[in-house]
Amino acid sequence: MSRNVPRNPRLRAWGGHPLSEKMPVPFNFATAIATALNEVATKLELDSTIFAPEVRMADPRHGDFQANGVLPYAKRTKQNPRALAEKVVAALPDDLTALCDVQIAGPGFLNFTLKEPALDAWLTAYADETALRDGAKSAQPEADQVYVVDYSAPNTAKQMHVGHLRSAVIGEAIARLLDFSGAKVIRDNHIGDWGTGFGKLIWAYKRQLDADALASDPLEEFERLYKVGNKAADEDETVLQDARQELVKLQSGDPENIAIWQRINDVSLDAFQKIYDQLGINFDHTLGESFYNDKVEQVYTELTETGLAEESQGALVVFHAEHPRFKAQPFMIRKSDGAANYASTDLATLLYRREHFDADAAIYVIDSRQGDHCQQLFLTAAKWFEKTNRKLPRLEHTSFGTVLGENNKPLKTRSGENIKLRELLHEATERAAALVAEKSAQLPAEEQAEIARVVGVGSVQYADLCQNRSTDYVFSWDKMISLEGNTAAYLLYAVARIRSIFRKLEQSPDSSAAFEAATALETPTEIALARKLTKFPEALASAVGPLRPHVLCLFLFELAGEFSGFYAADKVAVDDPAVQARRLRLCARTLLILETGLHLLGLRTLTRM
Ligand code: ARG
Repeated sequence: MSRNVPRNPRLRAWGGHPLSEKMPVPFNFATAIATALNEVATKLELDSTIFAPEVRMADPRHGDFQANGVLPYAKRTKQNPRALAEKVVAALPDDLTALCDVQIAGPGFLNFTLKEPALDAWLTAYADETALRDGAKSAQPEADQVYVVDYSAPNTAKQMHVGHLRSAVIGEAIARLLDFSGAKVIRDNHIGDWGTGFGKLIWAYKRQLDADALASDPLEEFERLYKVGNKAADEDETVLQDARQELVKLQSGDPENIAIWQRINDVSLDAFQKIYDQLGINFDHTLGESFYNDKVEQVYTELTETGLAEESQGALVVFHAEHPRFKAQPFMIRKSDGAANYASTDLATLLYRREHFDADAAIYVIDSRQGDHCQQLFLTAAKWFEKTNRKLPRLEHTSFGTVLGENNKPLKTRSGENIKLRELLHEATERAAALVAEKSAQLPAEEQAEIARVVGVGSVQYADLCQNRSTDYVFSWDKMISLEGNTAAYLLYAVARIRSIFRKLEQSPDSSAAFEAATALETPTEIALARKLTKFPEALASAVGPLRPHVLCLFLFELAGEFSGFYAADKVAVDDPAVQARRLRLCARTLLILETGLHLLGLRTLTRM
């Protein structure tokens, strides 16, 4: 791991702490350690192509961080590891040894333990969300890069169902994490609004529309019509022909068909927006497939002219000779009937993102079944951009597994239908309401309802985010809406509990005056909590780097546990104002990081529960 030296003007200017006048408190201690080790390596003239500091979080019994890079370096260069480790430690800069004690363990591992003044300085420096944000930006390679995050992207004319949950939830968390780390994030909803299904739908719309149903629940009616059209076309060849004609008319701009299509999209987007409102999602752009209709010609021309695409059985395709599968299974970028497809629009979309948004990265939050599509898209784009002298953005298929039912099959209703997202979120709120009625019966009904919404929706989001996104997970109401375990309710409750500590003492977690009298951290539980708090930057970096929000979930869960240990052992409301101030400050920082972390995941938080 070699990260940039933290650069943060705000912190450079920060001074007055006993640590030293000129030394800023690093936001991310792991980064600071890695930086120092790289400096030492230069000083000792170690071969930089072989040496890597490899700083990780340590088992708390051994320290805060460990650096594992010396041992493999010594082995490869045939030196005594322990002797090299001693040389490295002796050469560490004073700046770093002022922050932490260093010990050599085993054959040459280095253990770093943060000193109390470093913990204290960190708690002083990172006192609000702005400071955390500045710190994160200073420590992240993503800073100032343009990231297009492509997520949610349902198809119009259908309601969003449980299969659409993960992209929306994971995508939003990733967008927020990147934004917090200083990236310029563009949230783009690449809706599927131009499928061949519109032919059948328009056919049925013109013949079997139920005006009352349309007025009361239009999306339900469109879904019904689509099924009607589909069935009729299956059973009757002439219907199929007519439906094809409707599609051709739509594609050639027939005003009547365009108007119907527009109406279907408008209604769909309104329905999607209701879901997005509940999930706290706001897109910067909704540029669906239809937006790229007039932009696919350029793709065909350029890919043909550069020799990347060729005609095959009437279609335009790209083979990737170097790939074991894609050398025989090409990427079809134009169908044999001349129509654009998913690949054509995705290629046009990427060009647009590069040229119009100046994207440095495009993150595709799409389920793992589209792995081949993404791989072929990225391979094709890499060759195309290279041949046309364009900068290729970082391309990432941020894939995820399936939501399963208790039977380990994709989650469906009892009758085998897809569960509508609208209904799922409604049920979540209802179930949370039962929990709230039991635990918070003393609160006014209106507040209880609000708590139920936050806990219900938050539980669904959190249950999705706290798993490694690559794997499938089993959807379980009982586990997800529980006050025990790594759940939203547990964390939201921890937040509300800390807020109540402040309420009872009539203090504000945001006023630094309350902490002025704070003395040095003393008890083992105070110190353990402070050490955990200072790991937030490392957890954040480990979540943002590989775009894996579950790393942050686990950190927040552990932090809440550490807080419980502290709160059980150390009384906050005590007579000694100095002791109370320093414990209250720990409460305030725990609150800050729990709330910031939950908001980064897309959840809302509560002040009481
Ligand atoms: N509409 C597509 C689907 O439902 C997802 C689109 C994802 N984004 C993309 N650029 N391909 O499968």
